[in-house]
Amino acid sequence: MIAQRVKLLNPSVTLSLSEKAKELKDRGNDVISLSVGEPDFPTPLYIKEAGKRAIDENKTKYTPVAGIPELKNALIDAYEREQGYRFDPKEIIVHPGSKYSIFLAALTLVEPGERVIIPTPYWVSYPEIIRFAGGEPVFVPYWDKGSFDLRYDLFEEEIKKGVKLFILNVPSNPTGVIMQEKELVKLLEASLKYNFYILLDECYRRMLYDGHTFPSPLKLFPEAKSRLIVSGSFSKSYSMTGWRVGFTFAPAEIVKYMNRLQGHSTSNPPSMAQYAAVTALKEEKEEVNDMVREYQRRRDICLQLLDEIPGVETTKPHGAFYLYPCVEKALKGKYSSTEEFAKALLETRFVSLVPGEAFGTPGFLRISYAASEKNLREGIARMREALR
Ligand SMILES: Cc1ncc(COP(=O)(O)O)c(C=O)c1O
Repeated sequence: MIAQRVKLLNPSVTLSLSEKAKELKDRGNDVISLSVGEPDFPTPLYIKEAGKRAIDENKTKYTPVAGIPELKNALIDAYEREQGYRFDPKEIIVHPGSKYSIFLAALTLVEPGERVIIPTPYWVSYPEIIRFAGGEPVFVPYWDKGSFDLRYDLFEEEIKKGVKLFILNVPSNPTGVIMQEKELVKLLEASLKYNFYILLDECYRRMLYDGHTFPSPLKLFPEAKSRLIVSGSFSKSYSMTGWRVGFTFAPAEIVKYMNRLQGHSTSNPPSMAQYAAVTALKEEKEEVNDMVREYQRRRDICLQLLDEIPGVETTKPHGAFYLYPCVEKALKGKYSSTEEFAKALLETRFVSLVPGEAFGTPGFLRISYAASEKNLREGIARMREALR
């Protein structure tokens, strides 16, 4: 009775963990959640005010499917300012969240049976979206010589076999790794040579630490513009997860069809959220940088605490707000998998973390440091106890 296309979808591990954590919390347990992919800061006041103003001014109706011109123009200006390339208004579409950008891009480009490279570990939704579109996910690990490294040569063999799309998430969820400029140039060159598209998911673009900068593809190699789809979001940078505003820059022909699909499915993103997003871009002062500084401080605290646990091996993330340590040695002889450990940690010590199985790499754990310092310290202390 249920259609095959939805039966193919696996439930989200991260969401089921959150549900379990909530259930334990509702029963009165002191649950610490380090599993959510969501900033713990409120949406900045100036953005909330803009959303309220839009409602008061009755900007509460349908907008153009691809978004209001003010928001498209503000995004085009911001991209030019930050990444040195100016898109045309026909090359942008705004969505209800960037997850929908990825969904539409996959449905617009991938034919049944076409191969899509997903660097592994990956964000949980990529494989499901690609399978839903009928494509074949090709998982290519980028764990090399004891660290995560988005190096072009790790992917070349699979690229040469023929692919339609390469999903690049920089900085990465869950590893926080960015691709170095020279590697990105090699990938862009390959997209022309071997005829595939690159879907660049840059939803954590603003969250970069230690002076790392975002490698801007169109400044580095503008020739590959016809092969590039850029997916961006307001969710993480501006702490606006619930407002649902994401966007795509892509060649006009691709945007045209994404627009058609969006027009028959969700239509425009919420009108008041679009106006709030215009203000987020135009009136930003120090809010985003303040959040980034705080994430970096917490990252450093967590790294130090984790490094003190025997058998836990950390790598320093360049961006996003996750740590992804390898805990294989620490689990040896105690737990048979990271999934089993994560379950036990939640049920007996009330700390929720996401096991590496969810991201295609068992043996690792994802810890989100979008949580208070107090909770991070307590959560890691409980993890340490559980591993003793
Ligand atoms: C890598 C990555 N891409 C895309 C998204 C989707 O974000 P949103 O739909 O809120 O813009 C997320 C959210 O967690 C993410 O981690």
